[in-house]
Amino acid sequence: MGAKQGKLKARLKGSKIAKRLKHGPPSITAAQKQILEKSWSTMRDDISQVGIITFIGFFEANPEVKHMFVSFRSVPIADLRQSSLLRAHALRVMSMVEKCVTRLDELDKIEETMKNLGQRHLKFDAVPENIDLMGPHFVQAIRKCMEADWNKETEEAWFQLFKLMTYYMKEGWK
Ligand code: HEM
Repeated sequence: MGAKQGKLKARLKGSKIAKRLKHGPPSITAAQKQILEKSWSTMRDDISQVGIITFIGFFEANPEVKHMFVSFRSVPIADLRQSSLLRAHALRVMSMVEKCVTRLDELDKIEETMKNLGQRHLKFDAVPENIDLMGPHFVQAIRKCMEADWNKETEEAWFQLFKLMTYYMKEGWK
């Protein structure tokens, strides 16, 4: 592990995030699982759009993190909507979401996949505090895609899935 990654791990120790991790993984109810599977099949054809909208909202609200994304950091935010590089990245991220939605009965697999992903993020210089900033943009993008089918329960189910994914990502950082 490099010195930078070592510092990131040291920062996580004793932080608010480390305390939250102690409470164990967020749980997803059977009703939430049904909602997630149904809404995933509704938005399946639009997942690249959901990913693109997530990232544009995320960068507009947090422009200081855009430089981390080597593959498209030189593309101005105004041009990102048309960027094939952002599209490719958005699809990689959404394929991780798909892996989780389709494995809600195999939590050990979600744990392993997301811990590995979190570990890879150490190399990207992302810090655990960045991770939670993405959730609201992710849920808003799904909401735009689902329109009429959206309700409070759907919103809660997606926030809960995002919490589960990021819980294990942060575990991978430790
Ligand atoms: C649930 C949230 C997230 C998911 C599912 C996710 C997923 C991914 C995936 C699948 C990749 C492709 C590379 C790989 O698989 O190793 C990636 C790359 C990356 N992620 Fe994330 N990510 C998330 C949040 C974040 C956040 C909040 C940041 C930082 C602010 C971040 C920064 C990066 C960077 C810098 C890369 C490398 C991009 C490049 O190659 O230019 N990620 N992420």
